[in-house]
Amino acid sequence: MKNIELIELISHGDNRGSLIALEKEHNVPFDIKRVYYIYDTKRGVPRGFHAHQDLEQLLICVSGSCKIKVDNGKEQEVYELNTPEQALYIGKMIWREMYDFSQGCVLMVIASQYYDSEEYIRDYDKFIEMVNGGGNS
Ligand code: TYD
Repeated sequence: MKNIELIELISHGDNRGSLIALEKEHNVPFDIKRVYYIYDTKRGVPRGFHAHQDLEQLLICVSGSCKIKVDNGKEQEVYELNTPEQALYIGKMIWREMYDFSQGCVLMVIASQYYDSEEYIRDYDKFIEMVNGGGNS
């Protein structure tokens, strides 16, 4: 799907354990402005349900597992993130829903913009309208 990519991260491991580095341009395809992580999630309680007009994100399940449903208004895909060695890139104008969080799941998100609650598209019908109408409605 356009604006969605599963990125394999290179793990540097030795007998002490493993380490993954995230670097702009190297494996993060945008300017990093913000990092947050979702944890202490509740079984059966989904999150997300929004899209962004001008925000790119990289989602990494650094511990445990969860599922991410992505939707570009025409097609939908579901990704299970269950390793810190994969990152799901979500580009602009993608509706996302996160669910099936395992116990102890930590979902880290790297974002291309600072937090701006005004920038959220939280109404699915409006999202569909924007996708189909070119974003001017
Ligand atoms: P929310 O967008 O509801 O989370 P999700 O995308 O998982 O559905 O955000 C939860 C709360 O955290 C809400 O009060 C806004 C706040 N928040 C910030 O202050 N900064 C951030 O970068 C993010 C993503 C959320």
